Amino acid sequence: MVETRETEGPRTVLVGVTGGIAAYKSAEIVRSLIKEGLHVHVVMTRNAQEFITPLTLQVLSGNPVWTDTFHLTREQEIGHISLVDRAGLFLVAPATANVLGKVASGVADDLLTTMVCAANRIPVIFAPSMNVNMYENPITQGNIRKLKRLGYGFVEPAEGDLACGYQGVGRLADPQEIVERVLSRLCVKDLAGETILVTAGPTEEAIDPVRFITNPSSGKMGYAIARAAAQRGAKVVLVSGPTGCAPPLDVSLVRVRSAEEMRKAVMKAFPPATVVVMAAAVSDFRPAVRSRHKVKKHDASLTIRMEPTPDILFELGKRKEQRILIGFAAETRSLVKNASEKLAKKNLDLIVANDVSRKEIGFQSDSNQVKLIGKDGNVSALPFLPKRILAHRVLDQIGMLRKKPAKGSRRGG
Ligand code: CTP
Repeated sequence: MVETRETEGPRTVLVGVTGGIAAYKSAEIVRSLIKEGLHVHVVMTRNAQEFITPLTLQVLSGNPVWTDTFHLTREQEIGHISLVDRAGLFLVAPATANVLGKVASGVADDLLTTMVCAANRIPVIFAPSMNVNMYENPITQGNIRKLKRLGYGFVEPAEGDLACGYQGVGRLADPQEIVERVLSRLCVKDLAGETILVTAGPTEEAIDPVRFITNPSSGKMGYAIARAAAQRGAKVVLVSGPTGCAPPLDVSLVRVRSAEEMRKAVMKAFPPATVVVMAAAVSDFRPAVRSRHKVKKHDASLTIRMEPTPDILFELGKRKEQRILIGFAAETRSLVKNASEKLAKKNLDLIVANDVSRKEIGFQSDSNQVKLIGKDGNVSALPFLPKRILAHRVLDQIGMLRKKPAKGSRRGG
């Protein structure tokens, strides 16, 4: 099932919270994991409860929080060891020097360290947070090295102002980065070996130094595809027009402005690509002449002569060879007919047809409802989905296209 792609295997994440000032940030981490559709169980040390209450994390996770207080009924019904066995991943955030030291030495003297000790069959990720001197202490560094050698994962702490008043490395990594690392670790790497070129966002075509023509594309769809592809193990290049989207982790981002700049960046990244997903809303026209100076309003009237921009995807279609090309079609009427014509004209394997006349979906929104049209004419209507899930649906098609190559074609490119 694609909806569970990001969370395949048991969809449960254990979040261990230890006693550092950054413990309050565990609330944001838990909330974001839940938003991503994961089940979360929290286990807290006694010191962690000095910084944030179990009740907060219980409400956010929707599950009772595990603490050191031994609870006989729950032990009978659930059992913390079996919970570890059934989870997909164990995240300890924040992880203090103390907990790293204990785990590295095999100490299991409270519930959290006992559970980490029992987590032999699932990935364990630590997000350390502590004073810079504690972090740089050779004993802590030695423990981290040892844990890394043993296969434990780390989300490295950031540098900056620390709560203790010091400056340096030791601040808990950004909660969103921690969540991204968790998602990536849980994801099946079925796109390993693919090099995927994704485009996203609008383009801006300058009229003069302060004005331009653009469209309402937010870039969310393309960014979601790039993010999902990287999580699934692909090497990803994202060529993006101006957007407010955060750069996805493990994606090489090339920022462009105009259609011409996008074309250049795409052509440069194209040779090693095995798949291209052209999600950008490229301007079809640009001013034929760009005024060097700001056009003054006392110029009684302004007529802008427009010329077509290069059709990037059409060009790629001609040089396609063994690559998989996926396009998007923004239509306001005759969705399937118009999109199918684009698919044929641009020599695509798949087109994602988007009805942009519907206000509740498409441009700007976090969700969309599209039809996937294959070059065999097969149309599959997807339900209304968040773009992060939709991204996985689109990427699932790559595997299917690889399984049934067109006559005479071989995998390659
Ligand atoms: N596209 C492109 N270069 C352009 C215009 C569009 O590469 N200059 C790509 C888009 O990224 C998308 C696909 O072509 O993947 C279809 O874009 P769309 O705007 O729906 O269609 P157009 O080909 O521009 O045709 P029209 O605007 O007439 O519908």
